[in-house]
Amino acid sequence: MGISSFADLISPMTPETFFSRHQGRRWVHIPGAADKFRDVMSWPRLQALLDMTGIWSSETMVVKDATRTVPPQAYCTPETDRRNQQVLQPDPSKVMELVRAGCSLGLNRLDTLDAGLRAVGAALEDALAGKAQANLYYSRRSNQAFGVHSDSHDVFALHCEGEKEWHLYEGVDPDPINHPAFKKLPLEERRRRAGGVAETLVMKPGDLLYIPRGHYHDALCRTDDCVHVAYGVTQVIGMDLLTLLMNRAPADAAFRRALPHPEAEDYDSALAAQLADLGDRLKAMASDAESRAFLRQYQTEHFRTRRGGYGFPVTGPTAQEQAQAARARANAGNARSPGTAKPLPAQARAAIMGAVKPR
Ligand SMILES: [Fe+2]
Repeated sequence: MGISSFADLISPMTPETFFSRHQGRRWVHIPGAADKFRDVMSWPRLQALLDMTGIWSSETMVVKDATRTVPPQAYCTPETDRRNQQVLQPDPSKVMELVRAGCSLGLNRLDTLDAGLRAVGAALEDALAGKAQANLYYSRRSNQAFGVHSDSHDVFALHCEGEKEWHLYEGVDPDPINHPAFKKLPLEERRRRAGGVAETLVMKPGDLLYIPRGHYHDALCRTDDCVHVAYGVTQVIGMDLLTLLMNRAPADAAFRRALPHPEAEDYDSALAAQLADLGDRLKAMASDAESRAFLRQYQTEHFRTRRGGYGFPVTGPTAQEQAQAARARANAGNARSPGTAKPLPAQARAAIMGAVKPR
């Protein structure tokens, strides 16, 4: 069963129910048929991706021993990648040795690598006007790769193999973002923020779990060989307006002007007046037609991931054939209505005449 739209992905829930009750508010577990995500991820698909040796590096393949990240040197060797750059590339025999010993595997940024993965990424981006990135997590029984945490993006977890127990906690960080203030919190602090478990659920193949950003959660394998693909979706947020204003402000001379000299007698009042004026200008700029149009275009056209788009074998006429056809159409048009043909410029006429003139 292929997934070609957001409605397919969250079926049997409707998009109306999802957007009115869950988006940004409350997690939801949507059980599905065991083969629902068969075109997105399966053992043969995982194997095929992993065997594309040259696409992996220590950044895109992460090995964890419980919650501890295994140093890349333990499973990678220096190789030259496809861009002719030196990278640490995972050595399959070392990775398999660690996996057999109980380590888990994280594969990052999979959403452009395969038709099924691309389709889900595109469906999420269209529905949520955001960017989607897919990471895959493989783990063994009772191996918890992440302690309790919240994410700075909405999560859509597609469960593909095995069974995994998820805990959703009462605690919520309101709208966290990818910023030091929200990252690398110590486990004790995360536990404190998470509070008590609000719901425990078991994910089976074909199940989908949506977790809004900021909601604390963790997960634990209940069977050997668990696989889920997690799509993280980020959207354009208020902070992005600041970047836009930074880029627009230099066009206004007021933002290029120096602040008053700190030793000036009327420094406080002059500074207050200048800052108030800049604030007024920023306020007007923030919501004027140019900012609104820019942000709308950014949301609808630019804040997207490029996925796919090639078409081989090439069908249809070549550029040369198209040009010939256009010329033929033009000639046919001229033949039908000779009166509309433009006379050739004198120079062209002379050249043609010279070419055909008897020597
Ligand atoms: Fe998470």
